[in-house]
Amino acid sequence: RIAMGGESTAATAAAPSAAPAQPLHILYGTQTGNAERVAMDAAASARGLGLAPEVLGLDDVSMEQLAAMRHVVVVTSTYGEGEMPDNAQLFWEALSAGAAPRLEGLRFAVLALGDTGYDGFCQAGKLIDTRLEQLGATRIATRRDCDIDYEDAAAAWLGETLPLAAEKQGDGVPPAAVPAPVTTSVTGGWSRKNPYSAMLAVNRRLSGPSSAKEIRHYEFDLGDSGLAYEAGDALGVMPVNDPALVGLFLERLGAGAETDVGGTALGTLLTTALEISTPSRDLIAEVERRAGNEELSHVLRNGDKEALDAFLWGKDSLDLLALAPQGAFTVAEFVGLLKPLQHRAYSISSSPKTAAGRVHLTVASVRYNASGRERGGVCSTWLADRVAEGGKAGIFVSQNKAFRVPADDDAPMIMVGPGTGIAPFRAFLQERGARGAKGRNWLFFGDQRRENDFIYEDELSRMSRDGLLTRLDLAFSRDQEAKIYVQTRMKENGKALYAWLEEGASFYVCGDASRMARDVDAALGDIIAEQGGMDAEKAAEYIAGLKREKRYLRDVY
Ligand code: 2AM
Repeated sequence: RIAMGGESTAATAAAPSAAPAQPLHILYGTQTGNAERVAMDAAASARGLGLAPEVLGLDDVSMEQLAAMRHVVVVTSTYGEGEMPDNAQLFWEALSAGAAPRLEGLRFAVLALGDTGYDGFCQAGKLIDTRLEQLGATRIATRRDCDIDYEDAAAAWLGETLPLAAEKQGDGVPPAAVPAPVTTSVTGGWSRKNPYSAMLAVNRRLSGPSSAKEIRHYEFDLGDSGLAYEAGDALGVMPVNDPALVGLFLERLGAGAETDVGGTALGTLLTTALEISTPSRDLIAEVERRAGNEELSHVLRNGDKEALDAFLWGKDSLDLLALAPQGAFTVAEFVGLLKPLQHRAYSISSSPKTAAGRVHLTVASVRYNASGRERGGVCSTWLADRVAEGGKAGIFVSQNKAFRVPADDDAPMIMVGPGTGIAPFRAFLQERGARGAKGRNWLFFGDQRRENDFIYEDELSRMSRDGLLTRLDLAFSRDQEAKIYVQTRMKENGKALYAWLEEGASFYVCGDASRMARDVDAALGDIIAEQGGMDAEKAAEYIAGLKREKRYLRDVY
């Protein structure tokens, strides 16, 4: 593995001139680590230009520090529907505040990573770009917004932008051509573009047979891949589309699987190369143009996101295609409207120290029926139904360096992870067990019913007996009349929870973002206010402090 820290010393030594290298601050906002990796690559390129880059997470930069910086490149992803990534929220709060300092002395450029499949494409980058300009800073280069296939666009933009950052602050000597950005070779060299074909060693159902949910446990054999990960990382899995669904597309298009499309068989494209479930924006727009569907035209014309979401709910690309008359699209036209098939990322549920040579996942299979057709999550049902034990899947590690057990083995740790949200915490507990970490561990877990949904019960019971799990609080929502959720248990134990925080505990949340994590956040605020005798504002400051100290960490989706 390449060490990420301590790079600037080497950089200064490698600078071509004897004069001290000029600083360039590369600030990143990241949720899953992509923007951070791009920032690291940018630093490597900047060093090649004789600059002294310093890479910092956005939340680690105060407004005073920012105002003192001269040259800044911001690389940020966007989280969910247009939100700041977790490690940029405090930065954005301060930057967007009325009290933010003037930044006349700052020259900057923004590289935004995003996904056109979501609303608020590259919104975090757009907001920061606009706000920096408002505060008087000067742009070195125009912002670039990258879609999910960001690697080439990001490298090209850095290749154009970094020399500009060097030129304006140097001694007038134009910099040499930028060396191609280094692709940081961590995690065994396996990546989204080059996944490792791993053998699936275990594929078994965890949730009980009568559970409303199907949660499964998977173990991939890492063989001699050299693929390395840490507790807290995610695993990217390259799915294969459902052949039954591919068959329905072929039928609808009136074309055979062997039909040649630009040198590849249509069947192959639809099976392994293109996203056929979630309709792309382009497909929606083209169907609207050709279908004369009043409802779709209406919701698109009004630009009403909720109405469009409601219209699209339960509809996949095949349903959209079916809105247009048969033959409305040629095969090539239709294929041109689909996006490349993407990997799916899952929080890893094992520690490499315990699961020697393997990586574990804990995944809910997404299945539902809509308009008389059984449908499923692209990757979760592929793993569940079509990759038998002994079968192969393309995988790679997506590092999540912000989401780790506390560096201090003696620090207490509170984890809230209902349902599959337990995944990274199983990894954390294994990790702490293997390290012999003495810090206390508290897990809040729950789901619908104890009988069916208490996954990993044996393991958790053993950890409780062994003393590794200091406290285990369970919330089964449907075992009684009134709903009991993880935050119910938190509130019942507010006094102890606050005491743990005061003793330096880190607070982790994993799972559903829109309801659970939101309500857990509110409950945390209530507990702090009540136990600490604070008003809501003071409690919010306390929580901001936890975030600043990296003691409030979330892996939510
Ligand atoms: P419910 O579906 O019975 O209401 C995993 O999905 C668990 O999360 C289920 O027990 C579910 O309960 C629960 N859940 C639903 N909404 C929640 C919320 N807002 N906060 C916490 N848990 C929630």
